[in-house]
Amino acid sequence: MNTPNESLPRIAVLATGGTIAGQAGDASKTAGYKAGVVGVDKLLEAVPALSQVARIHAEQVASIDSKDMSIALWVTLAARINELLVTDHIDGVVITHGTDTLEETAYLLHLTVKSDKPVVLTAAMRPSSALSADGPLNLLNAVTVAAHASAAKQGVLVAFNNQIHCARDVTKTSTYAVDAFRSPEIGALGWVQDGRVEFQRKALRRHTSQSQFDLRNALPAVEIVASYAGASRAAIDAFVATGVKGLVIAGTGNGSIHASLHQALADATKKGVAVVRSSRVGSGHVMRNGAASDDSLGSVSAGTLNPYKARVLLMLALAAGITDPGAIQQIFDTY
Ligand code: SIN
Repeated sequence: MNTPNESLPRIAVLATGGTIAGQAGDASKTAGYKAGVVGVDKLLEAVPALSQVARIHAEQVASIDSKDMSIALWVTLAARINELLVTDHIDGVVITHGTDTLEETAYLLHLTVKSDKPVVLTAAMRPSSALSADGPLNLLNAVTVAAHASAAKQGVLVAFNNQIHCARDVTKTSTYAVDAFRSPEIGALGWVQDGRVEFQRKALRRHTSQSQFDLRNALPAVEIVASYAGASRAAIDAFVATGVKGLVIAGTGNGSIHASLHQALADATKKGVAVVRSSRVGSGHVMRNGAASDDSLGSVSAGTLNPYKARVLLMLALAAGITDPGAIQQIFDTY
């Protein structure tokens, strides 16, 4: 065991599970393994070089496959990060997470962590037991970023496959490739390699200590409905019947909405359901559409947020008591 170097930054590693903590019975297997079974101590043991980069404080917050991420766990995670970062004992936080919902957790934290200290999520596409597992190097790189002065005030970051992404823009784009994360059109903020951290641009939208949002109020139910050829109004009507407070449409093209969904949304908005239009396309932005629905129904354009991130922002806005379509649009134009 190396003696910790007292001059190194103190980084909290909060483990939540995922493929980075996954294990298969056979090292040649990169599918069909169980995610979230290896504990944080074992993940750290696999990366002795961490002791040259930071003094690590490790916590096992959860051990899940991130497809099962819950709002309750989001609240626990955000509260723990805020609690750690407000002290003088922790200089930054790294969260190990599954890749499947990493982009949602990252954006939620980007809007609810109240600190300028670095917060970095990382993950892996191959289980820890695999030949050429990508988790150990991703973890080392994430801690290297969190320990680096230039990562302060950048909002929540995602360090993956040598790239550093902004939590707002990053999305998973491949089911199995080790370069599974991209920030479509905009690109990564920077890179990390062999101990070097370089940022090439900054996130301009509001985040972390500048964000007005927190998790003090319960997040209201907001669901996502896709528009596609032959779509029916059944899903929207069913969600409205359950008392949903908001709907995000994963629309075609510029967030456009099938006529049968449009009629159902007209009925939903009359009952006070907030409607945000995003796109299922995967890149590009959604413009306001005037009389087509934004001016007639009071729907809101998600801009460059994908449907899953638009849902996060709409939940936070509604929880903060923001319900007027114009005010929600302003939130989507700001964050
Ligand atoms: C998960 O999201 O927990 C499983 C998939 C992964 O981490 O790649």
